[in-house]
Amino acid sequence: MEATSADREQWGSRIGFVLAAAGSAIGLGNIWRFPYLAGEGGGGAFVLIYLLCVVLIGMPYLYAELSLGRNSQRNPVGAIKSITGGGSAWILVGGFCVLAGFVILSYYSVVAGWAVGYAVKDIIAPTMGFQEFAASPGMVIALLGVFLLLTFLVVVGGVEEGIERWAKILLPILLVLILLIIFRAVTLDGALEGLTFYLVPDFSAITFDLVIAALGQAFFTLSLGMGAMITYGSYLPKREDIAISGAYVVVFNTLIALMAGLMIFPAIFAMGADPEAGPALVFVVLPKVFAQMPLGGLVSVLFFLLLSIAALTSSISLLEVVVSYFVDEQQWSRQKSVWLIGGVVFLMAIPSALSQGASGAFSDMSYLFGESGLFGQNNFLGILDYLIGTAGCGGPTLPPTSWWRGAVS
Ligand code: PHE
Repeated sequence: MEATSADREQWGSRIGFVLAAAGSAIGLGNIWRFPYLAGEGGGGAFVLIYLLCVVLIGMPYLYAELSLGRNSQRNPVGAIKSITGGGSAWILVGGFCVLAGFVILSYYSVVAGWAVGYAVKDIIAPTMGFQEFAASPGMVIALLGVFLLLTFLVVVGGVEEGIERWAKILLPILLVLILLIIFRAVTLDGALEGLTFYLVPDFSAITFDLVIAALGQAFFTLSLGMGAMITYGSYLPKREDIAISGAYVVVFNTLIALMAGLMIFPAIFAMGADPEAGPALVFVVLPKVFAQMPLGGLVSVLFFLLLSIAALTSSISLLEVVVSYFVDEQQWSRQKSVWLIGGVVFLMAIPSALSQGASGAFSDMSYLFGESGLFGQNNFLGILDYLIGTAGCGGPTLPPTSWWRGAVS
């Protein structure tokens, strides 16, 4: 028997929903990816185009996903079934969303595990550089396990008692951390140059590629294209008006991305580092910047804690997409869904965890795809990201090229 709407879980309050959805949106995308794209894309010019993409395309798309969820009160597959009827091929799109949530979670958690590791790096691996760190199998798998376990423990608590409750605790912490780090960064000597680079657009830097990158980032950062917002919308009461709540999510998410730039660029310029370092910006360049600046040790711990928290509230939403499918469509209990799916996600994540140097077979797959790789990707994590994230559901939902390869080079 299908669960009726009356038994289905719901958010306890509007603010709870807004924080949970903002938590999904605010993630590695805001604090790691947005600053490095802005750094590569000439600073202010990228920021301007990104803001236009968020308002003109991201926001209507967000409303569409939220209303599909709210009206159908179902997971992505059930939601599409409810508007197309049972036999339509469109259901595959819903199925793809669930699959994408599953696959993205597997490798997103690997990067999130690095963030957790960096928060406690002085204790667990004080002398290791990033390359050595990312290639240490025991370390990356243990960190991945810790991060996934946290994700499972939140999701198993349910929509209101797990996801909503933790969003209400974690997002305020995130905000305080980000404000503290911004304060430290903008009070460094030489910070103004970084602020100018970041905030004053150089229109000549606008190219077609930059527009595509900004559009991809707008989708990714709002968690669009793979059903997370359909799922979160499905726990809203049918009478809920999403215009205001959706707008809060967009504003909150955009503010955090802008603030991430405010903490990173002043520090980078003040310390004479390179803003165009690409994906390596956060894991390779920032630790060097922190090491040179007063109170840097503390700032580093706070920064990676911030990154871990942001990633956690996003991974929760990725897992919830899959869990909601099994709960709604297969009548599994929440516990069974979380632990079973979680176990499979952990196993699936291991090749990604080992793909940054720990295992040759996963780090360089040119034996399958040739020297130039599959779409330029030669490691397991990069390939999955391209196939599911970029070429997958909703178009450019995840960063297009070699985040990961770049991060370790
Ligand atoms: N929006 C998240 C981020 O910026 C990533 C994400 C994408 C989460 C899709 C859920 C679904 O990091």
